[in-house]
Amino acid sequence: MPRPASSASTGAFPRTIGATRLLQAFPRSGSSMDKLVIRGGTPLLGSVRVSGAKNAALPAMAAALLTEEDVILENIPQVRDIETERKLLAAMGAEVELGYGRAQHRTTISCSHLAKPEASYDLVKTMRASTLVLGPLVARMGHARVSLPGGCAIGARPIDLHIKGLEKLGAKITQEHGYIEARADRLKGARVVFEKITVTGTEDLLMAATLAEGETVLENCAREPEVSDLAALLNKMGARIEGAGTHTIRVHGVTKLHGARHRIIPDRIEAGTFIIAAALTGGDLMISGCDPSHLGALIEKLQECGVSLRTNGESVRVMSDAPLKAADITTEEFPGFPTDMQAQFMTLATQAEGASIITENIFENRFMHAQELVRMGANIKIDGRRAVVRGKTALSGAAVLASDLRASASLVLAALVADGETIIDRVYHIDRGYERIEEKLKGVGAQIRRIGELLPRRSPVPVSAI
Ligand code: UD1
Repeated sequence: MPRPASSASTGAFPRTIGATRLLQAFPRSGSSMDKLVIRGGTPLLGSVRVSGAKNAALPAMAAALLTEEDVILENIPQVRDIETERKLLAAMGAEVELGYGRAQHRTTISCSHLAKPEASYDLVKTMRASTLVLGPLVARMGHARVSLPGGCAIGARPIDLHIKGLEKLGAKITQEHGYIEARADRLKGARVVFEKITVTGTEDLLMAATLAEGETVLENCAREPEVSDLAALLNKMGARIEGAGTHTIRVHGVTKLHGARHRIIPDRIEAGTFIIAAALTGGDLMISGCDPSHLGALIEKLQECGVSLRTNGESVRVMSDAPLKAADITTEEFPGFPTDMQAQFMTLATQAEGASIITENIFENRFMHAQELVRMGANIKIDGRRAVVRGKTALSGAAVLASDLRASASLVLAALVADGETIIDRVYHIDRGYERIEEKLKGVGAQIRRIGELLPRRSPVPVSAI
């Protein structure tokens, strides 16, 4: 397994290790034992740039499995989940060049020789999105062996809808020794109605259908921007997809896809997290390189809370020193309020006057951050899928534990307004999805630093995989 560089530099240095030409895989120093130390009370001022969307980059990298030719992806975020996906593809025999810094966050993936169409438990357990390789592998190779992901910190996360959909397309699916095996000579187009809206399920089936014989109609699809971004890439690769971004997607199967170059959309969840950071600290922050049209539900809700925001083409400016007001949210599929912003909104609600009711509709156990916020002084009562947050309460710095990716973001936000110092443990969760968060926050005035045991980098501890 390639050892990532340990330098904090951003320059690229090509080297070839096994099937992977590593320009600079995950270059920051640190280990899974890292902690963030934050001293609260400083308003965020200036400008911060949003990275590419992790949740768009992961399916895009999996889409490279559909062709023998090179797929070049730009605006790839420098986060640990991308590194996991690189390992996943390399383990199958793909050549993956991944470059940050001067190489402009770009990856070139060549899947001309795939030796082993398998996603092992070791990788799937650290990142559930690994299951995105199932559809492309069976479509191109006629065979896929993918570990079942197992439990997750935010609740049961089955992949039954991926499996049912692939069966509809004619794949024979068996399950043995914790692995799903899918086989098909060639998938056949069919009508697939998702019983429940699933983002990666829609993406998995979309990729599989591109190489199926005849027409596939996917109904009750996820409409997330990341699904549309994947469809845009696939169409550049020669697929014939219509309707992405709506509930019904039609795919006219083709026999072969070719290489393409594609720029990944900005990360709307990272953008939303910075917007809340600015609103909470009473700052004046320009969040640049984002797409405000992907942030509609969040922006509307923050305006209801009294946050002053101005959007233009590719940026959002938050100017906020007025008192925050309570507001209720219910998480929904896009374009509703995203579950991936629920934890961060909860932190905001602790600083708003009045009672905010937060209803989590997508996952059944996604309030793990609440207990840690309470330890910092928040008043939060949980009742099933509902949390009632009463504010405004003063928060005080404490030692807290991050339980999953977005939960850790909510703790960083709380720390930014807490009195004194907060030490956040299990920072590997935040490193899965936020690029250089401490550097970006420091750049706009936050008092934040990373401390770590000077150990060689290890694989992240597999607790949750959002
Ligand atoms: C994706 C996002 C994640 C986000 C979530 C919801 C990626 C890599 N991850 O996750 O950040 O929080 O969407 O917006 O894009 N379900 C089933 N059976 C299935 C699949 C899903 O019952 O086969 C259920 C899930 O348990 C959950 C709901 O459907 O309750 C939505 O999950 P889904 O949209 O699939 O989430 P992910 O695609 O895993």
